[in-house]
Amino acid sequence: MQDLLVVNSLTKEFRPLLGRPFRALDGLSFTIREGEVFGLLGPNGAGKSTLIRMLAGYLRPTSGSATVDGVSITDRELKPLVGWAPQEDSFYSRLTVRENLRYFGSLYGLPRASLDGRAAELLTLLGLTEKADARAHALSGGMKKRLNLAIALVHSPRIVYLDEPTVGVDPISRHGLWEVIERLRDQKVTILYTSHYLEEVDRLCDRIAVIQRGKLVTIDTPKGLKKKHGRTLEEAFVALLGGG
Ligand SMILES: Nc1ncnc2c1ncn2[C@@H]1O[C@H](COP(=O)(O)OP(=O)(O)OP(=O)(O)O)[C@@H](O)[C@H]1O
Ligand SMILES: [Mg+2]
Repeated sequence: MQDLLVVNSLTKEFRPLLGRPFRALDGLSFTIREGEVFGLLGPNGAGKSTLIRMLAGYLRPTSGSATVDGVSITDRELKPLVGWAPQEDSFYSRLTVRENLRYFGSLYGLPRASLDGRAAELLTLLGLTEKADARAHALSGGMKKRLNLAIALVHSPRIVYLDEPTVGVDPISRHGLWEVIERLRDQKVTILYTSHYLEEVDRLCDRIAVIQRGKLVTIDTPKGLKKKHGRTLEEAFVALLGGG
């Protein structure tokens, strides 16, 4: 399968006005193949969200490069190719769920006539139809996560970045989200997935990159990681990073 995302020596240094610069990502290189569900694991502060922000074109790299289908992450043309469900809420709290979907759809240039249809599709997909006319601030925590995901999908991107999409989501809704991800995979949508819940990473991901302090530790399949480092993915993760 072809590479869709190519990351080449990506580095990000945060430079505060006072104090020393902090290197959050340090020469990271890897590729994600078209149609792959690719896990990104690492302890708190490893640089996962920083990487995703850069890959979404939201933060500029200090050095290095990355492309999605040949388009640089610093290029305006990137936006339609990628969807991003950030770790934090990405919607307007005072708009309703449906209004948020319409708003983000129009931002991405969806024709006016198709906004309602697309919103309805996503409401069904994510089980939010009942809350379509509720203001987003009045959703429960798990529903907010689902709205984040719906917004990331509104323009049918080639690759979706999901930054801890199941935090605070109840077990039934979590299974529902996994089904959504499996459905996206069937539609050949490429997914970059971060989570601290390693059973779900094990279940969903074709390959996993483990990062620590902004550097790549290893890339392998869940099976390969377990074979080399522990019976479960959690054991493997602790064995790989526990000493650091
Ligand atoms: N805007 C910023 N300015 C300065 N430092 C930052 C900034 N954003 C992130 N960092 C630092 O970069 C490092 C990586 O943060 P990041 O949010 O990418 O971690 P993460 O792997 O997503 O962690 P978590 O699992 O907790 O979400 C942390 O040390 C963080 O404090
Ligand atoms: Mg994060």
